[in-house]
Amino acid sequence: MKAMTDEPMIDVRDLHHAYTHGGVTEPVLHGLDLRVRRGEFVVIMGPSGCGKTTLLNILGLMLAPTRAACVRIAGRETLGCGDAERTRLRRDALGFVFQRFNLLPTISVARNVALPLRLRGAAADGVVPALLERMGLAAHAAKKPRQLSVGQQQRVALARAVVARPALLLADEPTGNLDSTNADAVLTLLAGLHADGQTIVMITHNEQLAVRADRVLHMRDGRFVD
Ligand SMILES: Nc1ncnc2c1ncn2[C@@H]1O[C@H](COP(=O)(O)OP(=O)(O)OP(=O)(O)O)[C@@H](O)[C@H]1O
Ligand SMILES: [Mg+2]
Repeated sequence: MKAMTDEPMIDVRDLHHAYTHGGVTEPVLHGLDLRVRRGEFVVIMGPSGCGKTTLLNILGLMLAPTRAACVRIAGRETLGCGDAERTRLRRDALGFVFQRFNLLPTISVARNVALPLRLRGAAADGVVPALLERMGLAAHAAKKPRQLSVGQQQRVALARAVVARPALLLADEPTGNLDSTNADAVLTLLAGLHADGQTIVMITHNEQLAVRADRVLHMRDGRFVD
């Protein structure tokens, strides 16, 4: 298929989301518009509870918005997609670093990282050791996640998110649990991926990390502000 390079990686218009629990509805996102170009590195900042993770979960097709005019991700309109379609798009086009890492505790570091490749039926043999090496994790490949430090687990989560070379990388505070040395290491990895053309949307609270982005968006109470 011909590459449509002008088409944004993300095109979201008039996005609303509300959570309903115990009969109470809490509106969280209030008509967001967001466009991200292919190859762009965008950072989203904002106070706790303003809706950043909710937005990222919608972009990552893990949460269906209450309503929106348009949620195009990697060239596909995802509104109205069924579960199978959303799962396929997530598997084929998206990489996600969760605010809580969500590593599988019972399998090794190497198998955690290989998971997205296995889900696609792709070989993991050459790719995973090289990536673990690049992430400074080669010595830990056979360990279980709980045997690693928090900083090391964060890097495993990042390795898993990028191993299958997703079109779009979504990262929810990928340095939130790290000291400044480890945070710099993760950011250097992200900057390297960005230099290779990776599209990245990252949430962070850290102003110093945000300077590496092409664009910083500020969110407050479910809206982007200037
Ligand atoms: N699964 C859920 N069910 C109900 N309410 C939720 C759920 N997830 C988040 N919320 C509420 O939605 C609002 C936004 O939450 P969200 O997790 O998107 O914020 P955030 O900007 O990522 O915050 P933080 O910086 O602390 O991670 C909060 O008021 C939160 O209580
Ligand atoms: Mg959050």
